[in-house]
Amino acid sequence: MSLLVTGLSRLVTNDPSLGEGPLGVIEDAAVVFEDATVAWAGPASRAPEADRVHDEGGRAAIPGFVDSHAHLVFAGDRTAEFDARMSGTPYTAGGIRTTVAATRAASDAELSANVARLVAEALRQGTTVIECKSGYGLTVEDEARSLRIAGEHTDEVTYLGAHVVPAGLDADAYVGLVTGPMLERCAPYARWVDVFCERGAFDGEQARAVLEAGVKRGLVPRVHANQLGHGPGVRLAVELGAASADHCTHLDDADVDALASGETVATLLPGAEFSTRSPYPDARRLLDAGATVALSTDCNPGSSFTTSMPFCVAVAVREMGMTPDEAVWAATMGGARALRRTDVGRIAPGARADLVLLDAPSHVHLAYRPGVPLVSAVWRRGERVV
Ligand code: NIG
Ligand code: FE
Repeated sequence: MSLLVTGLSRLVTNDPSLGEGPLGVIEDAAVVFEDATVAWAGPASRAPEADRVHDEGGRAAIPGFVDSHAHLVFAGDRTAEFDARMSGTPYTAGGIRTTVAATRAASDAELSANVARLVAEALRQGTTVIECKSGYGLTVEDEARSLRIAGEHTDEVTYLGAHVVPAGLDADAYVGLVTGPMLERCAPYARWVDVFCERGAFDGEQARAVLEAGVKRGLVPRVHANQLGHGPGVRLAVELGAASADHCTHLDDADVDALASGETVATLLPGAEFSTRSPYPDARRLLDAGATVALSTDCNPGSSFTTSMPFCVAVAVREMGMTPDEAVWAATMGGARALRRTDVGRIAPGARADLVLLDAPSHVHLAYRPGVPLVSAVWRRGERVV
């Protein structure tokens, strides 16, 4: 079954061979889906025939957002912690343990319903691919079930047994568990291995042990790096060929050089700085150095309880020195790069038919009209889901 979506005032393809600039923008555009795949994209005047036609009457369209960093398997509520922060209490990683206790006490059905709710919330805002981590279980069985539940809702699943050392345990003993029996039990459910490399969580040596053990077991690394302060996380990520170093808030010149010269994507998570009232990462510095930048939500109940990629785009433009074009690219193609995916993040023949229609004439409105629900339709795998 083919579908022609036409009447697009501007289409962001992220394929420079199809249109203007790095975003490959086509004016007065159309797209043809053949089942779950993009068959054609180009000027509406040259569109081929299709079984069905949708005329969008002059709206802009972009590829579905690719949110490459989220923690959706959790239970409990941390409203009070956020509220206290807004009165001056600083954020520490210790709050994670509050969520761990609530998550362990929750049933599978409760956890699954929470993930489903958040994935649906993200979809309504244009996110068609979302990564999901464990990390609020921190026992062999609680991590394994978190990953199993994540995998019921997304195919980008990350083992984050090394989120924080559980209360009362010795750090090195816990790293032994994370790199041993917990990894054995969890690896079949995950594609990625992650570690929170930060003061108060895991140091450079511990993080290296976690990532190397994951690699040996066939997982690909990604790292929570340099979020709350400067540390070894970013350079470790680049050294180990991680797909992504996430947060990148506190960087020195050597970190920036490493990201600019390596394969590792710098994934920036402005929701975390917003919700912890912290200084934002400097996207401009990374882009000017030549690093690949992605934007993601970091959706979690502690440091960034948002599923909204449009929100992240708007903050990145206003506070992090990105242009609207750079931010939209980072939230689509950048996320795809951070997940090493070539089938999403772009609208070109052969790509997955994930398209977001905006109630706006241009993708620039995502930053120009902050907080406005501009997403008016979403197709995922060629199916209209919003
Ligand atoms: O990415 N940095 C570590 N983990 C989360 C925070 C989790 C929490 O506070 O519950 C993050 O910001
Ligand atoms: Fe995170």
